[in-house]
Amino acid sequence: MNVLEAIHERRTVKKYEPIPVPREQLERILEAARWAPNHRMTQPWRFRVLGPVSLGRLATAAGEGAKKLMRAPTLVVASYVPSPIPIHAAEDEQATSCAIYATLLAAHAEGVSSYWRTINLLDTEAGRVATGVPANERVLGLLHFGTAIGELPDPPERGGIDEYVTFLD
Ligand SMILES: Cc1cc2nc3c(=O)[nH]c(=O)nc-3n(C[C@H](O)[C@H](O)[C@H](O)COP(=O)(O)O)c2cc1C
Repeated sequence: MNVLEAIHERRTVKKYEPIPVPREQLERILEAARWAPNHRMTQPWRFRVLGPVSLGRLATAAGEGAKKLMRAPTLVVASYVPSPIPIHAAEDEQATSCAIYATLLAAHAEGVSSYWRTINLLDTEAGRVATGVPANERVLGLLHFGTAIGELPDPPERGGIDEYVTFLD
């Protein structure tokens, strides 16, 4: 699979078989983050793979939202350590988004499906305590990984290149 195929074919998947991604394979997927571009080589990203205990704590903190947490067998909290200098902090977030996307593409190349979900709970004290995210980090999402049930979904409708590219004189 070449990179363009991975970019085109990766899909957000919300229904998974209940089998966790094996640790070795998950490490290969998360290793892809290392190769993301990042200014000053700050490597600001952090990935926390939830185990049964931390998932239990998060589910307790989630209350009614706990059911949604059980959709994927492997959950990873993606965060970053922002620089105290605002312009560098913005770059840290941008680099971390690149790193996250690298993991989604790597997962796809491994035959593993994924879902990048924003979960407000991880911005709260209860969510941070449950997942061990310290106060100096900012959470960008809860990444879901696993084997899709059935076919990958059809891609959502997207605007064409003419909507976002301008060739200037
Ligand atoms: C930063 C970010 C946050 C996202 N959060 C959510 C979310 O909370 N809920 C959701 O249904 N999808 C979420 N998504 C996934 C998008 O809905 C999905 O990428 C989009 O529908 C396009 O589908 P595709 O990924 O299959 O191409 C998020 C994607 C990104 C990049």
